Amino acid sequence: MTGEKPPVLDRTGYVASNSHESNLERDLCFHLVRVVEEAAVASARTMGQGDAKLSDHAAVQAMRQAFETVPVAGNIVIGEGERDKAPMLYIGERVGAPDLPGFEYPGLDIAVDPLEGTNLCATGAPNAIAVLAASEPGGLLHAPDCYMEKIVAGPACRGALDLDAPVSQNLKSIARRLDRDVKDLTIIVLDRPRHADLIASIRREGARIRLISDGDLSAAIAVAVRGNGVHAVMGIGGAPEGILAAAAMRCLHGEMVGRLVINTPELEERVAKMGIKNPKRIYTAGDLAIGSHIIFAACGITDGALLRGVRFFGEGYRTHTLVMTSSTNSVRFVDTVHMHRKPGPRGVRLY
Ligand code: FBP
Repeated sequence: MTGEKPPVLDRTGYVASNSHESNLERDLCFHLVRVVEEAAVASARTMGQGDAKLSDHAAVQAMRQAFETVPVAGNIVIGEGERDKAPMLYIGERVGAPDLPGFEYPGLDIAVDPLEGTNLCATGAPNAIAVLAASEPGGLLHAPDCYMEKIVAGPACRGALDLDAPVSQNLKSIARRLDRDVKDLTIIVLDRPRHADLIASIRREGARIRLISDGDLSAAIAVAVRGNGVHAVMGIGGAPEGILAAAAMRCLHGEMVGRLVINTPELEERVAKMGIKNPKRIYTAGDLAIGSHIIFAACGITDGALLRGVRFFGEGYRTHTLVMTSSTNSVRFVDTVHMHRKPGPRGVRLY
């Protein structure tokens, strides 16, 4: 007996702050790192095959399988879609193995995107990642697979973003908070026809633009980390990616505002069923990922701004993963060499 205090459960049934919490959370982080690593490696094998479905399927299957070795009672709240359309990792699916020895977690809500940037992986383009976020039950917004209007920026922009304000005003606010001129900003925008006006407005204001073909989630992470040379993400992207971005912002203290795009009677009905009373509500990162114990993990599939892609070599492969927690404010980069046979005579290769 070490004399260590037993874990204290808070009102959600989750472990409240004490020394035991960080041990549990740290342990859980490494389980979740394995889950995103497995998805990343499986999809990375398909890189450049030009088959987005194949890449996606590989990631989904590997992530689903990896969860079977994680001692948690997980509930997918953001996943591959509805149960009738997605065979695995659908909303409401129970994942994890609470019967495994070592189970100590009362329950986890989990948001997954086993392959964020399916086309990026299929074409070998940068910034494809395997991602998940986890929280105590109720800690992540249950949102349908629709679009979300978003502005994401770094911690300096706290309270400075306004979805209803003109683009020029947001750019000025961001520039002011970053102590620079608008012309010194680089804004990331998904290259889509729906963004023609947004792009024209940013150009008019003189800010620089990085148009991306896909992957507004890894873009959101990049703008929240100083030194990447990009300062905000603006425009409409997926709502699931929005929830995951919010979880990342909770860990990085980044700033985000988002509003679901509910533009059909079916979606109206769907959000009502999900308990969303005001579909036009503007959410902050704290509203979208409200949990007090958020964990976010992302593993690089193809090379990107923050994460290297999976590299394969004779004896194994190497993965690069980001894992962060909101409650203990840790941001870890996990660089792992996985060996499936002994190294050759020259020892472990680091590439
Ligand atoms: P997938 O990996 O699911 O294909 O999503 C890629 C992505 O570019 C997201 O990053 C983004 O939020 C969303 O698609 C945008 O949707 P659309 O391609 O319909 O504009």
